[in-house]
Amino acid sequence: MARARSMSGTIPSMETSHDELKDNTVIIVLGASGDLAKKKTLPALFGLFRQGFLPRDVKIVGYARTKMDHAEFLKRGTSYIKNPDDDTETAKHLEEFKALLTYVPGDYEDGNAYDALNQHLEEIESHYQSKECNRLFYLALPPSVFIPVAKNLKEHCYVSKGGINRIIVEKPFGKDSESARELLGSLKKYWTEDETFRIDHYLGKEMVKNLLVLRFANVAMNAAWDKNSISNVQITFKEPFGTEGRGGYFDEFGIIRDILQNHLLQVLSIIAMERPVSFAAEDIRDEKVKVLRAIPPIERDDVLLGQYVAANGKPGYLDDNTVPHNSVCPTFAATTLWIHNPRWEGVPFILKAGKALNEAKVEVRIQFKDVTQGIFKDIARNELVIRIQPSEAVYLKLNAKTPGLYTRAMPTEMDLTYKRRFVDLSIPEAYEALILDALKGDHSNFVRHDELDVAWKIFTPILHWIDGLAGPRPRPVNYPYGSRGPKELDPFVNKYGFKRASNDYVWPVASLASL
Ligand code: BG6
Repeated sequence: MARARSMSGTIPSMETSHDELKDNTVIIVLGASGDLAKKKTLPALFGLFRQGFLPRDVKIVGYARTKMDHAEFLKRGTSYIKNPDDDTETAKHLEEFKALLTYVPGDYEDGNAYDALNQHLEEIESHYQSKECNRLFYLALPPSVFIPVAKNLKEHCYVSKGGINRIIVEKPFGKDSESARELLGSLKKYWTEDETFRIDHYLGKEMVKNLLVLRFANVAMNAAWDKNSISNVQITFKEPFGTEGRGGYFDEFGIIRDILQNHLLQVLSIIAMERPVSFAAEDIRDEKVKVLRAIPPIERDDVLLGQYVAANGKPGYLDDNTVPHNSVCPTFAATTLWIHNPRWEGVPFILKAGKALNEAKVEVRIQFKDVTQGIFKDIARNELVIRIQPSEAVYLKLNAKTPGLYTRAMPTEMDLTYKRRFVDLSIPEAYEALILDALKGDHSNFVRHDELDVAWKIFTPILHWIDGLAGPRPRPVNYPYGSRGPKELDPFVNKYGFKRASNDYVWPVASLASL
């Protein structure tokens, strides 16, 4: 398949620094029979392949404990690849993609099994024209085996004669500052920072990647981006389903470790960072770390915890039989962070996330301050909303004169809804974007070692409190499955100065007759 043009060429004014795709690359997916590989990694690899974004002569090798033959691996590995319209082009690509796949079963702890994997890789590489071979290892694995796998890969499967070795790992990276340091420290013994790609898949989402452009390519936007104009910032994650099937995992981690400490904090750091000197990965990550270091650990008073209970025919969290019957694990959390630097002093950043809520939505809501009173009274505040998903959009709520012979102002909006603005819109899956970056050696959208460390510092004290390591455990308040969250949420955000738009605000179309 012909290789597609380089992606960096699509925004000529954004200078990034990374290699081009390397020919002769083998991608090894460890944990190939697991959920993450089936649902995310292999479909993303297929997406890249279909669009011509994989290296020339690429091969993909699955490795896992499960014993299965080639046909079974193909069946399982491609079971989440969709072809809803049954179109022949996709079906053809899928057959070509399957021809790239092979599978090696093996234990995660046993060095001999990795020798067998290495032999298989060498056999593939012996057909390559050039001597330079490259290996990208994707660990779609539970953290309990991260270290033995990283060690064995380094000792048995590392190509030393030219070519690159890279390893992709995914959260959870520990449970608090200390365990994360231990885990990362052990990984570092075998893999350098340059070889390591720590995924936070939110950094691969189109609208999260858009934040840098929105902020720094717009003078108008940037001018109002500080404590003088902004009253409060909310970053919200809502899912309309509970822990169904993942209760065991979830109960050990809770919503803060699952969503806030990584995905939402990453979004916060890009919203709040200073302008990087360049788009080079280290310049961006230096600025993210700098702003995160200005955030002190979260105070208990700045936390609201919730747990969903049965409602509307749906089971409560404690009805999940993989969850301990008396669990006080939060499935909802709102936390307020403060940034002590000249740009943000006094502006609350509220991170909110919950399972089993009324809708699926992830958005950033930046609420500006009140207009000075005098000529206007009780006029709505400006709000800039960046909807990360679903239906990507950026809209700015503005007051405008009510059209016609009225003299009143009314809230309206400038609306950039992607589906309406762009024809043939095709937004890549986060995992596609990130695997492509890793293949190119671009670290900008991956989490650096020190970034993770400072992220844990912010959350560790409240996590220890929630885990009962610092006195009695706090009890989350209840909220019904399918609701907006705990009833305590509105007073919680109001105490930080958030003002809800008045009830007569209608979006996106308003009938003037009703005004
Ligand atoms: C994962 C969490 O990191 O992100 C899940 O572990 C959550 O609990 C998921 O459902 C959400 O990702 P997305 O891309 O669907 O917003």
